[in-house]
Amino acid sequence: MKDQLEKLKKEVLQKLNAVKDIKVLRDLEIQILGRKGELTTVLRQLSDLSIEQRKNIGSAANDLKMELAEKFRQAAEKLDSEKKNDFVDLTLPGVGIKCGHLHPLTMIQNELEDIFSSLGFMILEGPELESDYFNFEALNITKHHPARDMQDTFYVNQKNKAGEYDLVMRTHTSPVQVRAMQKYGAPLRCVVPGRCFRSEATDVRHEHTLNQIEGLMIDKDISWADMKGVMEVVVQRLFGPKTKLRMRPKFYPFVEPGNNGEITCFICKGAGCRVCKQSGWLEIVGSGMVHPNVLRAGGVDPKIYQGFAFGFGLDRLTMQKYNISDVRLLNGGDLRFLEQF
Ligand code: DAH
Repeated sequence: MKDQLEKLKKEVLQKLNAVKDIKVLRDLEIQILGRKGELTTVLRQLSDLSIEQRKNIGSAANDLKMELAEKFRQAAEKLDSEKKNDFVDLTLPGVGIKCGHLHPLTMIQNELEDIFSSLGFMILEGPELESDYFNFEALNITKHHPARDMQDTFYVNQKNKAGEYDLVMRTHTSPVQVRAMQKYGAPLRCVVPGRCFRSEATDVRHEHTLNQIEGLMIDKDISWADMKGVMEVVVQRLFGPKTKLRMRPKFYPFVEPGNNGEITCFICKGAGCRVCKQSGWLEIVGSGMVHPNVLRAGGVDPKIYQGFAFGFGLDRLTMQKYNISDVRLLNGGDLRFLEQF
């Protein structure tokens, strides 16, 4: 009978190891330790034995019964804790999936492109490595013109294809005005977003790489009022219908008259704050009526056509819109900054 008990113990322990389900475990427990269970049946046979054997085997059988009961308890506990680990709490906040997004400059650029497209402007591009001719000369900035000092230029030690002009990293997007007129003629409506470069000592307001969006509209009977009207529509779509625009005179060699467009500060609505330096106005666009020399460089007859041109600084717009205090953050590639958008 002792052998019988040993064999039973071995079998049960083996089965217990394999059990993965609490119900199967409970069934097995009943099958072994239950009132009609295998171990109970063995114990019942004790009455057939002599007193001596009964004592001996009886206590062994009782020990086994206790031991197995404990093993069943442990197995049940283990299954229970495994089940708990499996539990998914659907009310917990999820783990966000990381995905890419647009750069703040790109968002502003897209917004402006949408506005201008809806007004019938084409979107064009031009080369970042530009010839001195398009960057300066064709824009009425001759070789020794003092206006060249307005923009600190990266000169590149190489000539253009025809070998006539130095190459420069374009200092503004304005050269594409002339390229566009040469390619498409008049009438013409286009905007040109793009990167520009200036040899500047960088600080919170200055970067060697900057972003602009240039615009040009040429047609018969285009007046200064058309320019102000278009600019007004654009800034009101960008910053809200209550935005006011004012134009102040400013010299740019490629326009006459030239202006600085200022809008009521969209943070304080004109009351005065840190962003507008208490003035209530923000300078956001350079513009003017295209100079006849520039029209001629583009192959357009200034006696028949007039037009206006403008240039927005995208970095400044982005900084104002998102309250960014240092322009160098825009190109810095710091993810702690970029992830905030
Ligand atoms: N190119 C000028 C700059 O980089 C901006 C500008 C001013 C563009 C007046 C224009 C304009 O088209 O008419 O500062």
